[in-house]
Amino acid sequence: MIQLRNVEKFYETGAGRTYVLRRVNLDVREGEFVSVMGPSGSGKTTLLSILGMLDSAFGGEYFFTDKAVHKLSHKERAALHKRYIGFVFQSYHLIDSLTVRENLEVPLSYRDMKRAESEALVADALDRFQIVGKKDLFPNQLSGGQQQLVAVARAVIHNPKLLLADGEPPLRPGTRDHGAVQAAQRRRHDHHPGHTLRDECVLRQPRRPTLRRLGRRRGAGGRGDVTFDV
Ligand SMILES: Nc1ncnc2c1ncn2[C@@H]1O[C@H](COP(=O)(O)OP(=O)(O)OP(=O)(O)O)[C@@H](O)[C@H]1O
Ligand SMILES: [Mg+2]
Repeated sequence: MIQLRNVEKFYETGAGRTYVLRRVNLDVREGEFVSVMGPSGSGKTTLLSILGMLDSAFGGEYFFTDKAVHKLSHKERAALHKRYIGFVFQSYHLIDSLTVRENLEVPLSYRDMKRAESEALVADALDRFQIVGKKDLFPNQLSGGQQQLVAVARAVIHNPKLLLADGEPPLRPGTRDHGAVQAAQRRRHDHHPGHTLRDECVLRQPRRPTLRRLGRRRGAGGRGDVTFDV
């Protein structure tokens, strides 16, 4: 589903060209669940922004399903993003002037969807993430953890083909997705005892979280310290 070929990202700074990502090669098949690990500043958010089609200023090739993303126009890329991608931002990016319910409606508003269908999906998400009681509150009336739950709910509500979660989504025990995230963390912890779990990014196909593959692949970040754990 995803192929990255020699992806590079650099910034021109006073000190010259600084590479954040260099020669990143990655293959992800549909249904796979991938964590991206690395210390702060190693390029995880940068990589996810490229995968999420939010950043087009990169070198190399990115294929998403049969599309050559690196060749698309801004408009085509934005359309692909809205249709196929759910993104949980590290800093949530909820819209302050909208209530929880209205924030959840945003990704659905891009679809040609009947009002009743959209309302049913919002009700289901509020229930699934146990935030029904918060639906008419604004983001600044929520705790940090609750804001993150809304951000996760908003990222999955349109059933995206690709879910990108930057930072560790604190899914509550008992919610449907909690087990999958926990299992991934446990496995990751086995590989990297003592490694902080905070910097987790998850790619998965929401309907079929697949955790059975335990093989590992390594990719190199700017300083060679971003790791893909598949
Ligand atoms: N506009 C910019 N100009 C120069 N350098 C930048 C710019 N934006 C980001 N960077 C650098 O890119 C590097 C990677 O940043 P990124 O946000 O991808 O890190 P991260 O791995 O997500 O870190 P964290 O775990 O703290 O979230 C950082 O060293 C950052 O300083
Ligand atoms: Mg980051």
